[in-house]
Amino acid sequence: MRGFTCHKGSVIPGLTRDPAQCKRFNLKLTGSRVKPGMTRNHLVCIVLIALAISGCRGWTSTEPPIHPNPNMDTQIKYKAYRESDFFADQRDMRPRVEGTIAHGDLDGLKQPTMTHALMQRGRQRYDIYCAPCHSKVGDGDGLVGRRMPIKPTTFHSDYMRAQPLKHYVDVETNGIRTMPSYKHQVPIQDRWAIAAYIKALQELKL
Ligand code: HEC
Repeated sequence: MRGFTCHKGSVIPGLTRDPAQCKRFNLKLTGSRVKPGMTRNHLVCIVLIALAISGCRGWTSTEPPIHPNPNMDTQIKYKAYRESDFFADQRDMRPRVEGTIAHGDLDGLKQPTMTHALMQRGRQRYDIYCAPCHSKVGDGDGLVGRRMPIKPTTFHSDYMRAQPLKHYVDVETNGIRTMPSYKHQVPIQDRWAIAAYIKALQELKL
């Protein structure tokens, strides 16, 4: 429906949609379309939006999906187990450069000097953190350990005796098989102390 609105700042009842009346009262005539109710344009919009939302489900395509805001999702990058055509051995994952150490391993690298105080500390920490499973003498028969489905390893085997000090530090730091890591409970210096104390326990020759 086409209509007109008289305009003079305020609405004068009964004067809309009649150009003749507007003229009579010397009011400015603004030609605007008055569209009561829903028009065809509205309907077209609604159908288009519905189609967009339903996203043409069920269609298959070999094209990659449209990704309006890619951010950095699809950047070119190396992934650990991917193939690489850049390196001669065709691996993305690079071996550690010889003579270097990973950043996080730095503080654990230096073996502290063995002192009586360190041993004492090691014994105290061992009794708190390890003995419940590995037992006070390290034979794997601690109160908790003997109830575990997979028994804690005894430290009195040829295999365990042959392990260097840093193997124990490594097990404490990273865990091994079913044993969890203790790096959050036991600071690195104490881990060395415990390892030294385990070496001393092995002198018991059980
Ligand atoms: C909750 C029980 C538990 C505690 C506490 C525990 N361990 Fe263990 N540990 C185990 C179990 C179980 C295994 C055997 C894991 C397996 O074989 O799956 C094991 C294995 C080991 C081994 C054998 C590694 C090898 O080379 O096979 C070492 C060394 C060890 N623990 C050291 C420690 C030290 C040091 C502590 C104290 C910081 C400690 N554990 C605390 C349960 C425990």
